[in-house]
Amino acid sequence: MERKKQSVVIAGGGSTYTAGIVMMLIENQDKFPLRTLKFYDNDQKRQEIVAKACEVIVKERAPEIEFIATTDPEEAFTDIDFVMAHIRVGGLSMREKDEKIPLKYGVVGQETCGPGGMAYGMRSIPGVIELIDYMEKYSPNAWMLNYSNPASIVAEATRRMRPNAKIINICDMPVAIKKSIADILGLDSELEIVDRYYGLNHFGWWTEMYDKEGNDLMPRLKEHVQKYGYASAAEEGNPLLEEASWMDTFQKAKDVYAIDPETVPNTYLKYYLYSDYVVSHANPDYTRANEVMDNREKNVFAECKRVADNQSAKDTTIEAGEHAEFIVHLAAALAYNTYERMLLIVKNDGAIANLDDDAMVEVPCIVSKRGYEPLCMGKIPHFQKGMIEQQVAVEKLVVDAYEQKSYQKLWQALTLSKTVPSAKVAKQILDELIEANQEWWPTLS
Ligand code: NAD
Ligand code: G6P
Ligand code: MN
Repeated sequence: MERKKQSVVIAGGGSTYTAGIVMMLIENQDKFPLRTLKFYDNDQKRQEIVAKACEVIVKERAPEIEFIATTDPEEAFTDIDFVMAHIRVGGLSMREKDEKIPLKYGVVGQETCGPGGMAYGMRSIPGVIELIDYMEKYSPNAWMLNYSNPASIVAEATRRMRPNAKIINICDMPVAIKKSIADILGLDSELEIVDRYYGLNHFGWWTEMYDKEGNDLMPRLKEHVQKYGYASAAEEGNPLLEEASWMDTFQKAKDVYAIDPETVPNTYLKYYLYSDYVVSHANPDYTRANEVMDNREKNVFAECKRVADNQSAKDTTIEAGEHAEFIVHLAAALAYNTYERMLLIVKNDGAIANLDDDAMVEVPCIVSKRGYEPLCMGKIPHFQKGMIEQQVAVEKLVVDAYEQKSYQKLWQALTLSKTVPSAKVAKQILDELIEANQEWWPTLS
């Protein structure tokens, strides 16, 4: 069957992930054919670095696709079927502050977890809402597939502030973990794994995994995770694991698993369950933001400049990773009605039976032209229920704080986080975050 050609805008065209997504799109013209590919960013200079290289790649490999890079919302969002969004409001320099400020007080400093994640959430909400508004104005039938972090807080904000928007918030971490699991178990691909999983974004657990023949994969997997975490994929060239900090995270899953051997965990739970370990192993003067600026950002931009200078991408090292695979796979499922099963961040509405309906949860969904249908994961045990309810409240309080411009609500959010030891420390961190985010946050009172 001939597949209808799609028009896609990548919002955050200057992201370090954009070129990988372009590679993936081009390699998948049989599964997800494009008529138009647009880039949108509010930083023209940054976007241009990536766009000049991608223009060469498109011309060389798929010249039939119209390619446009723009900072004009009307041009970007008109005649679009999909918005693939991955903006970082405040950039990596603000990520650095999100990480370093909590660490000064002995608290986890992380992009999406703890006080840093909340600070980032306060910046991201208006940026993502603005993208939704552009989409609804210029292409009201389009879908937005949103990676922009912190995905949980962004999802709660979009649920409240734009309840009818066609946005699906997503995360590549479960896919990356399943890729490692596929390697560990000797499967060809993570797509061979049928899973049951519940939780919040960066805060979840797998209860079951089967292969396509229905064989239980958990016993063999647990034996491995108990000894090595998700680490063995290192030798397989998983790009995430090339860096020491990711290697450590994949290994630490061993200790996270030990607390509940009935399930296997998302790697991000280490920030909540082993925050003392995380803090004592962090360098408060050189955090993940510094690593990203010194490695991924530098390398991606250098390669983009090289391709643009040579006007050839024949030997380019830019490649599509699981981040790109997942978003293109999801878009194809929506466009061509494939009824595939994918983990998405959606309104609970009974998917986790003993959790509030209005929590934004990460669960398996069936994806088709009609959108997504969450699968019911049933009741969850006390341990996970307690942790999830605490974290849901934190995320809701952050969105309350944003909507009501409330200092009190944000102080409560930080205080309630499992990563923060007391209301006093919460206040110290909050006051410094407010100082650092003057340009980005609403004025709180
Ligand atoms: P980056 O800073 O390299 O790129 C982000 C781009 O967004 C920049 O070019 C910037 O100019 C642009 N931008 C910022 N605010 C904007 C706005 N209001 N409107 C339009 N463009 C805007 O960041 P990165 O490291 O490539 O990551 C991009 C985003 O993707 C981050 O939010 C990151 O957390 C997220 N991410 C999410 C997942 C996931 O699992 N959900 C996975 C990987 C990355
Ligand atoms: C994973 C997570 C993302 C997060 C990213 C950070 O992919 O799912 O939500 O943004 O890691 O990676 P980085 O390399 O930027 O630290
Ligand atoms: Mn994620």
